[in-house]
Amino acid sequence: MTKIWTPMIAAAVVGWAAAPAYAETLEVISPDGKIIVTVTDDGGQASYAVSFEGEEVIAPSKLGLIFAEHPGFERGLAIAGATRASNDTTWEQPWGERRLVRDQHNEIAVIFRATQGPARQMTVRFRAFDTGIGFRYELPDQAALQGDIAIVDELTQFGVGDKTTMWYTPSDEFNRYEYVTRTAPAGEVDDAHTPATFRKESGLHFAIHEAALVDYSSMSLGALRAGNFEAKLRNWSGGPKVKTTAPFKSPWRTIQVARQAVGLINSDIILNLNEPNTLGDVSWVEPGKYVGIWWAMHINEKTWGSGPIHGATTAETKRYIDFAAENGFSGVLVEGWNIGWDGDWFNNGDLFRFTEPMPDFDLEGLGRYAQSKGVRLIGHHETSANIANYESQMEAAFDLYEKVGVRQVKTGYVADAGDAVRLDQDGVRRYEWHDSQFMVSHHLRVVEAAAKRKIAINAHEPVKDTGLRRTYPNWMAREGARGMEFNAWGTPPNPPSHEAMLAFTRMLAGPMDFTPGIFDLKPNERAPVRADVPRGNPSNRPQTTLAKQLALYVVLYSPLQMAADLPENYEARPEAFQFIKDVEADWEQSIALVGEVGEYVAFARQGRKSKEWFLGAVTDEEPRDLLLPLSFLEKGKQYRAQIYRDGADAHWDTNPYAMVIEEDIVTGGKSFAVRLASSGGVAVRFIPVE
Ligand code: NOJ
Repeated sequence: MTKIWTPMIAAAVVGWAAAPAYAETLEVISPDGKIIVTVTDDGGQASYAVSFEGEEVIAPSKLGLIFAEHPGFERGLAIAGATRASNDTTWEQPWGERRLVRDQHNEIAVIFRATQGPARQMTVRFRAFDTGIGFRYELPDQAALQGDIAIVDELTQFGVGDKTTMWYTPSDEFNRYEYVTRTAPAGEVDDAHTPATFRKESGLHFAIHEAALVDYSSMSLGALRAGNFEAKLRNWSGGPKVKTTAPFKSPWRTIQVARQAVGLINSDIILNLNEPNTLGDVSWVEPGKYVGIWWAMHINEKTWGSGPIHGATTAETKRYIDFAAENGFSGVLVEGWNIGWDGDWFNNGDLFRFTEPMPDFDLEGLGRYAQSKGVRLIGHHETSANIANYESQMEAAFDLYEKVGVRQVKTGYVADAGDAVRLDQDGVRRYEWHDSQFMVSHHLRVVEAAAKRKIAINAHEPVKDTGLRRTYPNWMAREGARGMEFNAWGTPPNPPSHEAMLAFTRMLAGPMDFTPGIFDLKPNERAPVRADVPRGNPSNRPQTTLAKQLALYVVLYSPLQMAADLPENYEARPEAFQFIKDVEADWEQSIALVGEVGEYVAFARQGRKSKEWFLGAVTDEEPRDLLLPLSFLEKGKQYRAQIYRDGADAHWDTNPYAMVIEEDIVTGGKSFAVRLASSGGVAVRFIPVE
C-alpha cells in the first residue's frame, strides 16, 4: 500500500513511531506543478525519483550514508515522518548576473529511522523549484551518533538512463577540471565532474551539480552501472571521504531541469540553496574590468621569472596602469611580482614568498601610483598548491596587499590533481586532491582571511563553484575549466565549440575568469622577443573570429572581466576595443535567449549601472543565421544598436578579423537577424533613443 502525504496531515514531525508494515511514499511538487520528487522507504531503503511534466528525469535512485565507526543509513530504513514548508521570497545580490533573485520553492524534510541496530535517524530535505530540485542529508543530534564521524561512502545515486546524452569532463585525471568537454551516451561514461549536463532522447535537459560545498568533500559522478551514477566523494589521503562532527548537514545535491537547454542557465537554484551573505557590508567588493601582465607570459613575450624580459617590472606595470586609467579599467593584475618564480615554479611551491617583491618591482610605489590614477593593483598568489607554505604566510601576505591598496587577489594552485601539499600533525607531507575536503576548507580560510582586509578572491585551479559567492560575496570568480590560456599553449587549443559548451556546463556553477578579448588571433606567429625564448606552436591560437572575442564579454559571465590581450593589440584596433570599454561586468538582469549545448548560445544582459542592454551570441564551427527576439527591450521603444558582427566572408580559421561595426535603429519587441560565421559571434550595445 502506498500512501501520499498531503501537506495538511504531514504538518507535524512524527516521532519514533513503530515501523509501518507498508512502504511510505511522499511527494514534493514544484510551485508550477511540473516537477515532482517522490521519496520512499520501499524495501527498507531510502530512495527518490524525479519527473518533469510526467516524464521520468531521475529513475528511482538510492539515498544513504555509511560511516567508518558509527552505524549508518543504508538498509532497514523506514520513513518516520516529514515536515513541509514553502517559500516565496526575493533577495538582492550585491553583484551578479541579476540583482534580484526569487527563491520560490516547496520543501519536504523526510525523516528516515533505522529499524535495526541502535536507534538513530537522518533527515533528507528536498526542495522543489520550477527549474529543478535540491536535497541534502541532515544528521540531527542523537545518542547513537555523537562526536567525530568519518563518512566512508555517500550512497546517493542518479539514475539518468544509459541512452541519455551527457556533456562532462572526466573527474579523475591529472589536469583537474581543465579538459575539453566530452559528449557521450551516459551509459558509456565512467566518471565525471559536476556540473554534468544531460539531454534525454525526448529533448528534455537536466544538469547534476551541488550547492553550498562547505566542510565536505566535493562530489563527482561515478558509474555504478550503465546510466546509473553514484555520488563519488573525494577521499583524504590515507583517510575517509569526509571527516565531520555530528550533528552535520551535507551540501545540497542539485538537479536542474528544463525542456529547453537555456532553461538550465535561467535558473537560480544553486544560489538559492546557499546561505545568505555572512560578511555584512560588502560595498568594498567591486565588480569591474581589468588588464594585466599576464598574456605576455603565456605567449612567451615576457617571463614570470627574473631576467631580461621579466614581465612584472615597475616600468611595465606603470605602462599597464596608464593604459587602464586611459581606457576605464579598474584593475591591473600583475603576475610574477614576488620571489619564487625562478626555476621550475610548477614543482617548487615551497619557494614562493608572498611578502617579498622581486627587486625590480616597487610594490608600494606602484600601489600608490595606481590609486593616484583611479586604478588598483590586482594581487597574485600562485601557490603551486603548496598549501602549507601558503597558509604559513597568508595573513602577512594579505596585510601587505591591504596596505598597498589591493582589493582583489587572484590565487593559483598549479599542480597535478591530487598533489596539493598538506603537512599533517607530525609535519609529514601529505598530498590532497584539489576537490578534497581539505581544499574545500582551505579556500574558505583564504576567503575569510581576505575578507578581513576587504579583499576579494579569484581562484585559479580552484575547487568547483557551488554558489558560495552568496554567503561570501568576496569570492568573486574562479577558473575551473579551460580558459583562454589554452589557446596560447594548450594541446590542442580550445575548439570552436568550447564557449558555447561552457555556457551550458561549467558556467552553471558560477562566474568564470575565462579572460576573453584576444585581438591578435595568431600570437605565436609573431617573431620571438629573444632567441632563447621561442614562441609556441603557431597552431595554438584562439579558434574564433574577432567578433566572437567581443561576444564573450556578454556570454561568459564574470564580475571580474579581463581584457586579456597586450595594450598594443588594443591600440591597433580602437574601433573593436570600444565594445570592451563600453560593456559592463555587473548586471541588473541576464537572460539566456536561445541555444543548444555546445552549438550556439545568445544572451541579453542589462548593465547594473547604465541600465543599458547588451547582447552577445556565439556559435561553434557551424555558421548560423539567428533571429533573436528583442523581447528584453521595452516594447515599441526605439534603440540605437551598436553592432559588432562577423563580416560576410569571416571564418575563424581563414579570415578571423573580418568584422562589420555598424549602427542600426531597432525596436523593442521585434526581432534582430544576424549571421554568425564559423566560430563567430556578435556583440551589441543598445542605447535608448530619447
Ligand atoms: C595558471 C593560471 O590559470 C594562469 O592564469 C596563471 O597565469 C598561471 N597559472 C600562473 O600562475
